Amino acid sequence: MEIDIKGGAIPGRGAVAVAVCKGGKLSPAAIELDKTTEGAIKQVMRSTRFVGNKGQHTEILAPRGTRLDRILLLGLGDPAELKQTDLEILGGRTFNAWAKSGVKTGKIIIDAEDLAAGTKLTKGAIQAHIAVGARLASYRFDKYHTKLKEEDKPALESLVIGTRSAAAARDVFADLDKVAEGVFLTRDLVSEPPNILYPQTLADRCQELTRLGVKVEVLGEAQMKNLGMGSLLGVGQGSSRESRLVVMQWSGGRKNGQPVAFVGKGVTFDTGGISIKPAAGMEDMKWDMGGSASVIGTMAALAGRKAKVNAVGVVGLVENMPDGNAQRPGDVVTSMSGQTIEVLNTDAEGRLVLADALWYTQDRFKPQFMVNLATLTGAIIVALGSEHAGLFSNNDELSDRLLEAGKTVEEKLWRFPLHKNYDADLKSQIADMRNIGTGRGAGSITAAQFLQRYVNDVPWAHLDIAGVAWSQKGSPIAPKGGTGYGVRLLDELVRRNYES
Ligand code: BES
Ligand code: MN
Ligand code: ZN
Repeated sequence: MEIDIKGGAIPGRGAVAVAVCKGGKLSPAAIELDKTTEGAIKQVMRSTRFVGNKGQHTEILAPRGTRLDRILLLGLGDPAELKQTDLEILGGRTFNAWAKSGVKTGKIIIDAEDLAAGTKLTKGAIQAHIAVGARLASYRFDKYHTKLKEEDKPALESLVIGTRSAAAARDVFADLDKVAEGVFLTRDLVSEPPNILYPQTLADRCQELTRLGVKVEVLGEAQMKNLGMGSLLGVGQGSSRESRLVVMQWSGGRKNGQPVAFVGKGVTFDTGGISIKPAAGMEDMKWDMGGSASVIGTMAALAGRKAKVNAVGVVGLVENMPDGNAQRPGDVVTSMSGQTIEVLNTDAEGRLVLADALWYTQDRFKPQFMVNLATLTGAIIVALGSEHAGLFSNNDELSDRLLEAGKTVEEKLWRFPLHKNYDADLKSQIADMRNIGTGRGAGSITAAQFLQRYVNDVPWAHLDIAGVAWSQKGSPIAPKGGTGYGVRLLDELVRRNYES
């Protein structure tokens, strides 16, 4: 679907959406349409209890006095309270209302001048966020459907956002659309089935970022062995697919400027290994590479919009399978940091992968900070459901910046504690630590506490995204499936704080 930003004239055909504010206050375009339709808008408002509240919408089909197919009334509520995410949801809702309705062209007319007075957003940003909301909603993963009927595919071919300040809005949208591309890449990767996406093929997908100017290195098992990554390698040992570590570098900042670093858990399938998971729901573990997908999508977003920052993305890619060569409960492995780990549960594998990926990242790049993303624990889903991701950090400034960015793009975070007293839980009789707690609760915290042992005091944050990487129900700006969580969050974090 094409999305464009143009002038604000009311089109002759197709679908059109206009805004109504709190108290039923019509926008100028809505007033004009009400006149041409001999009062159809006000009539429909009376008969549908539509009063312009935020989130309300109502439709008029084949409006009299026009050749339009449909008019969509969008409730804005109080324009003074409109946030960028409200506008994105507005764009997404409009797309969802029209996509399969049969109309081929649609136009959303939002009069920036009237709204801008009431919002903190610039004129251009208003339309750009509506446009990107529609873009995000338009995502589909249907490449494996060979028998889709025409009526099951979106018919909408063109969506125009109408405004008097199109030029400014187009620039902002061009930039946001690059971030949306990163989100789409993340969703694509998370949605791929695990027979198609495994460490090597996921590394191949990373390699495609060279197109955007990202430098990509792929380390194989021999190289990782030389580096001493016994913790990561142990996890992939039971799989016939070889493990990989991919390093992506985007150099958009000052030459030799200290980079920011993102690290991702990329378990392309998590059976649990010898500590095998129950059959029911195991298919969900195809998205246990969600953290790595967010890192890859973030790198694509930063490079795509040519962010003025030096950024490193490191993803540890393994498949956790139980075969004759698989790691056993009770094995002791030596990580790259030199610390030894007693693997008491082979299903607590994400932290084993991240231990080496984090150590490698700080050791090689000496970054300003590291943020790792991982579908790490079921316990975080018990605690937070699918509204917030868990945030664990050794640094208040980094945490606050992440929390702020999360609020802005509505990829929300909730901070959990780290504390040395949890360390007792990780004590092993025969090694430096064990990879699971002793069963006294706080499973997400002990996992984070484990990771902290591999960050060497670099400012670091761990985002446990097990509850948010995948959505069973979808949202106005994302269909069911991979959400792409993390890309817009990290892009916003960089945008606000780390661009030169
Ligand atoms: N990948 C899982 C966590 C997970 C669970 C992600 C559900 C998404 C949905 C992780 O590797 C795992 O198995 N964690 C165990 C840890 C336990 C063995 C200490 C868990 O959460 O049960
Ligand atoms: Mn597991
Ligand atoms: Zn896992």
